[in-house]
Amino acid sequence: MTQNTSYQLLKGKKGLIFGALDERSIAWRVALACKREGASFTLTNAPIAIRFGALDQLAEETGSQVVSCDVSDYKQVAKLIDAAVEKNGKLDFILHAVGMSPNIRKGNEYSQLNYKLMQQTLEISAISLHKVLQASVEKEALNDGASIVALSYIGAQRVFSKYSDMNDAKALLESIARNFGSRLGKRGIRVNTVSQGPTKTSAGSGIGGFDAMYDFAEKLSPLGNPTADECADYCVTLFSDLSRKVTMQNLFHDGGFSTNGISEELIFELAELNAAKKQ
Ligand SMILES: NC(=O)c1ccc[n+]([C@@H]2O[C@H](COP(=O)([O-])OP(=O)(O)OC[C@H]3O[C@@H](n4cnc5c(N)ncnc54)[C@H](O)[C@@H]3O)[C@@H](O)[C@H]2O)c1
Repeated sequence: MTQNTSYQLLKGKKGLIFGALDERSIAWRVALACKREGASFTLTNAPIAIRFGALDQLAEETGSQVVSCDVSDYKQVAKLIDAAVEKNGKLDFILHAVGMSPNIRKGNEYSQLNYKLMQQTLEISAISLHKVLQASVEKEALNDGASIVALSYIGAQRVFSKYSDMNDAKALLESIARNFGSRLGKRGIRVNTVSQGPTKTSAGSGIGGFDAMYDFAEKLSPLGNPTADECADYCVTLFSDLSRKVTMQNLFHDGGFSTNGISEELIFELAELNAAKKQ
């Protein structure tokens, strides 16, 4: 469900949003929610995603500029930060919503990884957050009190077999968020990860067994799986001044999945399955 009421929580704030590919992208939904709440921002994605995606449409809808950037290339990240500051002024918030595993794309199982590809997974999905933050600090691009959010997944803490080397990438991503959060706190700058439940997006659906992971999480989570729009609203609260003492956290936005052991629904379904087997 999309939140239509605007609370102007981000009135006058300037941001940078990575990772909007198409309407389903979590970053796309975050951009719309940030616009609704009064922010202005730069949109960015990899050159190939800009060529084949629909980012111009979102840019028009939100009155934003688009700057292309491959997040694994520090020089491109530094240029992007310059362009974002030049257009809107220093940044109050950044959304890192970037993830990609060439090993998953090629169907390489965890015990048979290609290490060159694993390096790319880590560069794109995790080390890029370090690059974004290092370049932002180097260029003095962040306002005091700024808020940085990177999107993570519970694969960082628990093993999801089909998530392959992305489990490792998310663990590293969360660690980088903590380490930078510790260093930037003196300026009131917050760095957090939001661990989102399974969401039907291009990256999500690209994972083998995604439908099973989605259905399982839906049945286990007391509140059900969170949508991309609900994730966007949560990100807005973290970008706003209403969460100014929250930093270095991995915040689960998963309908309760991470804490629930088993649900009545799963017990019922497993009992039915067992009964059917005995017949
Ligand atoms: N969909 C889910 O179930 C789910 C759950 C938890 C966390 N997440 C995370 O949310 C974030 C956004 O993913 P999404 O589900 O919205 O899918 P998405 O496919 O819409 O977004 C992933 C983005 O990463 C971008 N990207 C890939 N390589 C890049 C590069 N080299 N440089 C710059 N950008 C690059 C893609 O172009 C794309 O826009 C990712 O970090 C993902 O791991 C997704």
